[in-house]
Amino acid sequence: MSETVRIRLRPMGVDIDTPRGTPLQDVLFSYGVEFPCGGNGRCKGCRVRVIEGSLPVTPAQETMLSADERAAGWRLSCQCRAEEDLTLELAQWEAQILADTSAFAFTPRQGYGVAVDVGSTTLVAQLLDLSRAEVLAVRSALNPQARYGADIMSRVAHAVEPAGRATLVKALRKHIGKMLGELLEAHPDQSRTIHDVVLVGNSVMHHLFCDIDVTPFSHYPFQPETLAQRAFTARELGWNLPGDPGVRFLPGIGGFVGSDILAGVLATGLHRSQDVQVLVDLGTNGEIVVGNRDRLLCASTAAGPAFEGARIYMGMRASTGAVSAVHVKDGHLECRVLGNVPPRGICGSGLVDAVASALTLGLVKPGGRFEDGGSSLMLCPPVKVSQTDIRELQLAKGAIAAGIRLLIREFGTTHEQVTKVLLAGAFGNYVDTDSARRIGLLPFESAQIHPSGNTALLGAKIALFTPPETFDELAGRIEHVSLSSLDGFQDTYVEEMLFPPAFNSNE
Ligand code: FES
Repeated sequence: MSETVRIRLRPMGVDIDTPRGTPLQDVLFSYGVEFPCGGNGRCKGCRVRVIEGSLPVTPAQETMLSADERAAGWRLSCQCRAEEDLTLELAQWEAQILADTSAFAFTPRQGYGVAVDVGSTTLVAQLLDLSRAEVLAVRSALNPQARYGADIMSRVAHAVEPAGRATLVKALRKHIGKMLGELLEAHPDQSRTIHDVVLVGNSVMHHLFCDIDVTPFSHYPFQPETLAQRAFTARELGWNLPGDPGVRFLPGIGGFVGSDILAGVLATGLHRSQDVQVLVDLGTNGEIVVGNRDRLLCASTAAGPAFEGARIYMGMRASTGAVSAVHVKDGHLECRVLGNVPPRGICGSGLVDAVASALTLGLVKPGGRFEDGGSSLMLCPPVKVSQTDIRELQLAKGAIAAGIRLLIREFGTTHEQVTKVLLAGAFGNYVDTDSARRIGLLPFESAQIHPSGNTALLGAKIALFTPPETFDELAGRIEHVSLSSLDGFQDTYVEEMLFPPAFNSNE
């Protein structure tokens, strides 16, 4: 028997060889994992999930971890030793993934249903008791397609390669199927029958789940042949679920604007609003809806991956070790780091904050250059923001702000007349809205802006209680606008890349 064992840490992608029998606390501590109660088995802060291999459940863990958690493979690392090769997921490295706990009106049904938000970056699935619309279990995960590219355009590029689409479709279906299996394990009930599974996602996710050719997304005018609602049986997808339920991917609207936005419109009630409202999903592909009960316009805009920390010098996802907030205190920059560990990078919300703070201190000019002509700004060593990072942020925020401005103009209204700006998606809910206003990403007053949670997931849950044709009808009511075909698109984009020269935070 070998004297060493290999520990693989996920999602970091780190492999560690260590002598057999080493306490996991010793192994993980050097990788920044915290042991809040000092490794005494009293806090659960050091949780790891066993993906491959096994770790025995000790009495201390039986007390601290629920049966569901133990069954899902969670262990307290401070109570375990590395006796065999292991693949572990670190709870402290879990990304901030937005689920949903909102209450909503429903007509009770029998049995169980599952709602899934298929994001380009993250997947979230909830198991519901349809008689009470109660969420019984939640599973979230990184989208397994992310290894083929962070944004949807790189997925499209991979999908048009020989066998590329098949790989992406298989990876996505398999992973979601696994999550559904975990949901059922987390809530064992011999008599349960799944009646309905509803999925929502952007147009590329729709195609890559439904196994539809994505070539139209690879070139102008980026208009797919169909975004129609697609239905499958679980068995067709290779999922072994009790009752072999129907699985529906809700219809998209047009271009890149998919059923996640359609579900968001339904969840927020924007389509019934008397006043003009705006729904914005801030992601690599910013999606925007402007409208009211009489008319609805939507568009998507290629913001790029800056909000998710990609293509940023020290960028990372919003997980442990990321600078997630930066504020000005006594004329200096003060950083908050997720997980209270030494900083190792910066995520999207931290970047927006950092640039907003630098603008406030006069360290960055409205054009985006550093005031002192330097090439970077140190936030908290070793994390800094480079001139190129600021340019990436300008591209992202310029695309969103220009999209909002053009769509508001097309609707025939003004920013002032918009009563609510509803922010969907994880980034929109974690970003500091004052910082977003300071950099000109959200050119609205504070009172207009309403972080609205995971509206896509909420809409998917509502869909479990809604006739499928409701979504087809609503999708048909929303006009898709191609921003680049509008007069003044280029000029508006260039103007919106600039930062506002001055700002009144009380506005
Ligand atoms: S460090 Fe507290 S339970 Fe392990």
